[in-house]
Amino acid sequence: MSTPRAKPKYYLTTPLYYTNGLPHIGHTYSTIVADVIRRYKRMRGYDVFMTTGADEHGVNVERSAKKAGKTPQEFSTAITAQWRQLWDDLEIPGDEFIRTTDERHHRTVQWLFKRCRENGYIEKGHYTGQYCVHDNAYVGDAGPGDPCPDCGRPTETVTEENYFFKLSEFQQKLLDFYASNPDFIRPESRRNEILSFVQGGLRNLSITRTTIRWGIPVPGEAPHVFYVWFDALIGYLSAVGGPEFDERGLWPADLHLVGKEIIRFHAVYWPAFLMAADLPLPKQIWAHGWLLFDSAKMSKSRGNVVRPRPIVNVLGIEALRYYLLREIVFGQDGSFSYDALVGRYNSDLANGLGNLASRTLTMIDRYFCGEIPKPAVARGAEGYAPGTADFVSEALTNITQLYDRFSFSLALERIWEVVAEIDKYLTVEKPWTLAEQPENRERLATVLYTAAEGLRIITALAHPVLPKSTDKIWRQLGQTEPLSCIQLDQLAWGQLKPGTKIGKPEGIFPRVEKSETIERIEAMEQEENKAAEAPAAAPASTPAGAAAAAAPAVAAPAKIGIEDFAKIEMRVGQVKSAERVAGADRLLQLQVDIGGEVRQIVAGIALAYKAEDLIGRKVVVVTNLQPRKLRGVESNGMIVAASAGPDGAPVLAGFLEDVPVGARLK
Ligand code: MSP
Repeated sequence: MSTPRAKPKYYLTTPLYYTNGLPHIGHTYSTIVADVIRRYKRMRGYDVFMTTGADEHGVNVERSAKKAGKTPQEFSTAITAQWRQLWDDLEIPGDEFIRTTDERHHRTVQWLFKRCRENGYIEKGHYTGQYCVHDNAYVGDAGPGDPCPDCGRPTETVTEENYFFKLSEFQQKLLDFYASNPDFIRPESRRNEILSFVQGGLRNLSITRTTIRWGIPVPGEAPHVFYVWFDALIGYLSAVGGPEFDERGLWPADLHLVGKEIIRFHAVYWPAFLMAADLPLPKQIWAHGWLLFDSAKMSKSRGNVVRPRPIVNVLGIEALRYYLLREIVFGQDGSFSYDALVGRYNSDLANGLGNLASRTLTMIDRYFCGEIPKPAVARGAEGYAPGTADFVSEALTNITQLYDRFSFSLALERIWEVVAEIDKYLTVEKPWTLAEQPENRERLATVLYTAAEGLRIITALAHPVLPKSTDKIWRQLGQTEPLSCIQLDQLAWGQLKPGTKIGKPEGIFPRVEKSETIERIEAMEQEENKAAEAPAAAPASTPAGAAAAAAPAVAAPAKIGIEDFAKIEMRVGQVKSAERVAGADRLLQLQVDIGGEVRQIVAGIALAYKAEDLIGRKVVVVTNLQPRKLRGVESNGMIVAASAGPDGAPVLAGFLEDVPVGARLK
């Protein structure tokens, strides 16, 4: 029997992440949003429980492990440890971490299979189809050699004896379920997509493999192992008790938060598996969009990933949380940009909330010896601000409604309208002038009380997104009850008690210089990406959280043979033209003649060299590097330089004798 709860429970999940690679900010986005919902729901009176975890089986992990010279178990364990470490460092670990290699999960998968089988929804059969190994999915109408419509990689023809789940029998049941649960799939666009997919008819689903070892065994049916979706999805249930889910009282899940490309598995397969096993269905599946970088989905295979640690090491986790929730409309795709990240940090956090908190608290400290002043209560009294109080009270209701709909971006926009309103009020009332006029003491008290009360409400409302900084402001306001325990429906104007002793005002978000900050993040990013190319060997990188960044450590390079050196092609090049890359202080875009061919190369030398001084100069170019984009500009090669100038500034390699353009260096 489930234990009775004092509060209603709310069980939410992130996807279980594949362990064939390390997290980028696309993955981080999923987990951050889940954490925001978790904190918000707590402030709405729920007993919240959040599961995240690792999806460890499948061909991709098997292959990556082989490449790294490890067993899949060893490989996946090392990667899982890095994911967990990251979630811990970013303070978004959830309440439960489920691994699909856990024994409790194996037991749950086997149990669910047995229930589906006993209910007549499993059959044996042969399947031949085009399979996309990367996406772990058969490609519906593809023929041999056709590419996968999702990722564009060639599909493989697969024939094998499988167990099938009779998904086709669930078409009508699912349609009926969607009809009676209109909020099951969110947002509406995804719901429509799923409805038409299911209306188009469902094919039975192969759920086992005999060709791979790395999976959960089908009991008594060796060599069958469960394959991918009849494994990972079940993790949500294994995490909260599996077959004994009743004891924990958390199942069914209230929310599965997923990226849009895996909505079908969650909104079609998963409810069908649960219906087949006579188990309760989750209440809601919400699909968010993708983070794009250089206009494409951020992904390891495209090589356009942005890692979270460099951002967090330089700007702090709160900056990343705020940016992702404010800038990306939840449910839609959004482009990631360093410019916008740092811009938002400076304008909304440093100049916005941070500045409001510091000026309000400093003035209370200075003019009222650090005690919240007593405001004039009567309407019409000097400095009395019914407009401001009404504005804040109205916003409060509106903002919780926006959070309830997961309209995070709008909720934050509205909170920052309140920040602007209080700022404007201070600017109009000029408390620093009132402080010099003893006759205006009461008015000064009202003005600063109003600002502090507005700040208190803003702080509570922003808490789900900015948990650490709002905690600090809350404590500085002299509030003793933990902010996370505040119930938003109890929050109202006027609760701030005059006479409350405030803490010492401290800066929360120091302003940063934009281009220098971006350069620091990008430099760390390059180090991280290098390490991530060999994920199994890579140590967990610099822990996040520290405001200042340590210089990335450079490991002593291993010795290489001459054959390795011969792989690098270096030639003498001559700079034909040079110009600054817009918005990047460090970068120059060069056209370089390398002997019969002119290459565009982006080089990080703008602080050391003026563009016009480089024209005609002979340089050393690495010519066989993969092209890559820097700040959206393609760079096809690399200019060799020593980090030898002041502060490690680049010094270009060159020749004392005259050398012909195009000559190869050996
Ligand atoms: N293992 C499956 C999920 C199984 S859930 C039972 C999987 N893993 S994943 O690691 O590839 O992706 C996990 C989540 O990260 C997905 O929700 C996916 O949408 C999200 N993201 C991966 N790249 C992303 C972006 N570029 N942007 C936003 N989210 C993205 O799928």
